[in-house]
Amino acid sequence: MRRAGTVEELRSILAPERAAGRSIGFVPTMGAFHDGHRSLIRACRDADDVVVVSIFVNPLQFGPDEDFTAYPRDLERDVGLAEQESVDIVFLPELEEMYDADHSTTVSVGRLGQVLEGEERPGHFEGVCTVVAKLFNIVQPNRAYFGQKDAQQVAVVKRMVRDLSFSAEVVVCPTVRADDGVALSSRNVYLSAIERASAGVLYRALQAGESAIGSSGDVELAEKTMWQLMAEDSVVRPGYARAIDPDTFDSPVSGRPVLLAVSAKLGRARLIDNLLVTPEGS
Ligand code: PAF
Repeated sequence: MRRAGTVEELRSILAPERAAGRSIGFVPTMGAFHDGHRSLIRACRDADDVVVVSIFVNPLQFGPDEDFTAYPRDLERDVGLAEQESVDIVFLPELEEMYDADHSTTVSVGRLGQVLEGEERPGHFEGVCTVVAKLFNIVQPNRAYFGQKDAQQVAVVKRMVRDLSFSAEVVVCPTVRADDGVALSSRNVYLSAIERASAGVLYRALQAGESAIGSSGDVELAEKTMWQLMAEDSVVRPGYARAIDPDTFDSPVSGRPVLLAVSAKLGRARLIDNLLVTPEGS
């Protein structure tokens, strides 16, 4: 496995691979690897000739009161895991390599980046799109791998790829869950034992929402059911419980799949989760 710290180094490693007609697969990450990251890397390894993984905690996607400085970082452990997963190249840029001191250009996806997560985290998706656009320009992947766990990130990145004519194909991999249904996330390390024991309620709420939507397709009932289930747990402070269209994040369209999406705070951790459901008769 090779390490690249600069854009120039990475480009010079990738140029002969591209010239030889080998496909470049890319997994962008902020590190703190768990089995969700491994599943993205494995999907990439299965489909592409060259596997590139970036590890960069992107300050642009954190709000002023968010956890940028506290975000879990363990570079050597991550690099070891990448090696175990037969990654070919890890890209580990420093902050200055990615952003000049007077960096000012950003990418915004409009309304899609301002609702739901975007409402709770203003500027978050502008930060995500800006770094993903930069990374796509640097790596120029044939395919890039993202987790369904961050459903709105997936929708926003797909929209950016379409609107700005990036050539990368966005591949979405299923959410990886612990035995009790909790979606794996680097931020789960913030949970105390008591909070971790309650975290499974997010997935149970999504499952209850799925049953509620059932054959009736009653979106309001699904939202109410999910909210109530989370609110019943005294450790959990629900943020939202929504049933929406997975591409536009507007109201669901009859005959199309519905995305059930929830967020909640447990102590200092803010968790999100989602489930894509196909109402009967769709
Ligand atoms: O999903 C993440 O880890 C980040 O949002 C990403 C896509 C690596 C951009 O910083």
